[in-house]
Amino acid sequence: MATAINELPVAIGQTKLLINNRWVNSRSGKTFSTINPATGEEICQVAAAEDEDVNDAVKAARAAFESKHSPWRKMSAAERGKLIHRLADLIEKNADELARLESLDNGKPYHVAKTADLPLVLASIRYYAGWADKVQGKTIPVANEYFSYTRHEPVGVVGQIIPWNFPLVMLAWKLAPALATGNTIVMKPAEQTPLTALRVGELILEAGFPEGVVNLLPGYGPTAGAAIVRHMDVDKVAFTGSTEVGHLIMEGAAKSNLKRVTLELGGKSPNIVFADANMDQAIEGAHFALFFNQGQCCCAGSRLYVEAKCYDEFVEKSVARAKQRTVGDPFDPKTEQGPQVDETQFDKVMGYIEAGKKDGAALLQGGKRVGNKGYFIEPTVFADVRDDMKIAEEEIFGPVMSIIKFNDIEEVIERSNRTSYGLAAAVWTRDIGKAHAIANNVRAGTVWINCYDVFEPGAPFGGFKQSGIGRELGEYGLQQYTEIKTVTIKL
Ligand code: NAI
Ligand code: MG
Repeated sequence: MATAINELPVAIGQTKLLINNRWVNSRSGKTFSTINPATGEEICQVAAAEDEDVNDAVKAARAAFESKHSPWRKMSAAERGKLIHRLADLIEKNADELARLESLDNGKPYHVAKTADLPLVLASIRYYAGWADKVQGKTIPVANEYFSYTRHEPVGVVGQIIPWNFPLVMLAWKLAPALATGNTIVMKPAEQTPLTALRVGELILEAGFPEGVVNLLPGYGPTAGAAIVRHMDVDKVAFTGSTEVGHLIMEGAAKSNLKRVTLELGGKSPNIVFADANMDQAIEGAHFALFFNQGQCCCAGSRLYVEAKCYDEFVEKSVARAKQRTVGDPFDPKTEQGPQVDETQFDKVMGYIEAGKKDGAALLQGGKRVGNKGYFIEPTVFADVRDDMKIAEEEIFGPVMSIIKFNDIEEVIERSNRTSYGLAAAVWTRDIGKAHAIANNVRAGTVWINCYDVFEPGAPFGGFKQSGIGRELGEYGLQQYTEIKTVTIKL
């Protein structure tokens, strides 16, 4: 049975700010609209946080962190772990609703949200719940009559600013390690996709987190986001988003209180295919590496280097695979690709397609809008791309594949590294020597060998160079949320 027009696939719950465990309107009374990118129509209005709301949230977070009466401060690490586990259980119980909301607000296929995003969310939260009572310092044998030990203490009030491409996954990667280590949080979801964070806010209350521990402030970057970044009583900002805004975050930290900064930014990741690879796996892997999530991945394999010996075959088969990619209604189980997240992103991607044509790359597939409603773009493949073309240098963040030819391993390593980014890389080969040469010499935070986009909560993720500062996930992710205190005793 067809669903009636205007009938949403999921009920909309909270649309306000969460401050000190209460749902409130923004002080200014302002709201903004969040859009369904499959139709371009408004889903609902959401409260828009600004300066004063950020102040309120930071005050609540500070009190939860420091006040003598704060239950969060008195809580044992094991109790914290239990609470985080309880949140994971509630997210699991409501996983279908959350996947529907994510798909509606972001445009990603519902079945992908359900089978890829939600499991990673749960795994990440549970991974860090397990860490809560295992974060410990060292005993250090210092000279003579002294003895030192270290304590890993929470940083304090943490600002977290997250993007729209994986709203729930980014929320989990930031919230969970910060909570496990005992911080309190002021989080701003992206203005394009606030709804799942607010639903999680309801589950945070249901789980029983004390007042002020998690505060959620939907709103715009230059207002709510910037107010968090320049706030004198925020101890750290964790940000995922564009490299451009990453620069602004560091500047804001520098100009305020030198708050700690961790950044997970853009990329232009080389995906290198040697002729000795299992060709079918490499073609499917490269397709996934680029087109997954409508191409809206910070680590997308967007510089696809293919060895000259297998270039023509690879291009032909990649074009055939892209032609088959199903684009359409995110709630249709056959859909592989939904719309881009909004009109701005749609226009940006279409602009890059024009640039590719103008620079003389061979457009072999796609390149056009799909339909006349929503922000759908055809899976697009360019061949004969040169390193100096705009589509090979800049992050496109859309379903646009650029296939580039190379001749030998030294050359491809050098070309891979000729970028200001360094988030990820991949290599497809049956030769273990080549695989390790790429893994060791390409300057990137993650290298995948004969696979792509494999994320495990225990394996750290983050960027070299202008792809970021610090790491998320794993034990390294915890370090970003603690200060090390040295205690020295005279014996
Ligand atoms: P953005 O960097 O503006 O947005 C990310 C987050 O930062 C959002 O929550 C936004 O509200 C916030 N923000 C924006 N300006 C801010 C400011 N001055 N102070 C504090 N917070 C601020 O990214 P946008 O505009 O959504 O996308 C632009 C491009 O960035 C994309 O086309 C893509 O290339 C890249 N991007 C990369 C992401 C990644 O995963 N590394 C995620 C999203 C976008
Ligand atoms: Mg939306």
